[in-house]
Amino acid sequence: MRILVIHGPNLNMLDKRDKSVYGEKTLPEIDSLLKKQGQALNVEVVTFQSNHEGALIDFIQEQTPSTRGIVINPGALTHYGLSLRDALVDSKLPIIEVHLSNIYRREEWRARSVIAPIAKGQISGLGWKGYVAALQALAGELKADASP
Ligand code: DQA
Repeated sequence: MRILVIHGPNLNMLDKRDKSVYGEKTLPEIDSLLKKQGQALNVEVVTFQSNHEGALIDFIQEQTPSTRGIVINPGALTHYGLSLRDALVDSKLPIIEVHLSNIYRREEWRARSVIAPIAKGQISGLGWKGYVAALQALAGELKADASP
């Protein structure tokens, strides 16, 4: 079973962004943790990052036929990425939205997510552990659905 972990704009720069907001781990470190967690859960974790909404959409469209679910941190596209939202809806896959920071404790404009209404759930403010929790929850749900 394959699950995509997708990161949006600027998340490739975690080592250069404000560590008090986004934490200490780099994106390659987070991805490698998630791949290891995937092995433990018997799930193939495929990670992808892009700074371009169209590239994220292309990736989702290409991968959808061989994928069971998506964990996504859309970065700032969270707040206005309607094409990304449409691609996620069209995939018909279960989505969990993740944010490293707590988007409800920051600027007012960050508190609106156009992705949340189409997501199964959202984890915000737990740092890299939010991705781990999301992957575990999604894998657990998909396995439960598959059992007789
Ligand atoms: C973010 C929150 C967004 O508002 C911001 O634009 C990001 C990262 C987070 O993980 O906390 O780039 O998605």
